[in-house]
Amino acid sequence: MSTPETSEKLHLHVDPTERAWIRAAIAVLVVFAVAVSVAGFMLGIQVPTDEQRVNPQTIQDAPPWSEPGVREIVPGEQYDVYIVAKRFFYEPGTVEVPAGAEVTFYVTATDVQHGFKIQDTNVNFMVIPGEVSKLTTTFKDPGTYDYICTEYCGLGHAVMFGSVEVTP
Ligand code: CUA
Repeated sequence: MSTPETSEKLHLHVDPTERAWIRAAIAVLVVFAVAVSVAGFMLGIQVPTDEQRVNPQTIQDAPPWSEPGVREIVPGEQYDVYIVAKRFFYEPGTVEVPAGAEVTFYVTATDVQHGFKIQDTNVNFMVIPGEVSKLTTTFKDPGTYDYICTEYCGLGHAVMFGSVEVTP
């Protein structure tokens, strides 16, 4: 790339192909920076924080985790659902919420890493002991929506599931 003539010039000669790759690399960094900013500040996508950290050994000694399940915040409109994942089941195994309501799921694990995916919805996250995973969704249509474990957690992984009963 560098010849005796070019090295004498004040400006370093950059091969056009190399320059194109440098520009592409800078463009990719800019795209990533914009994507991270949009996800974090506009879409509210977050990684688990200290605020949502809990002790997996003692979490079920006190509310709300001592009695996981559905909490009615605004009847027919807003619900919180607390679910504990354990090898190899969810507590509770069935929850009931009305269609059209804003439902926020809080899920944590007491033993190992699990997954939590509600079929036919955007709810799909990892469940890690010591952390609370949270996601809000709305079920438009009544019916049964199974939630399944999506992280291999042991021999019973394949039978680890529960269901959301969405009432009209
Ligand atoms: Cu729990 Cu796989």
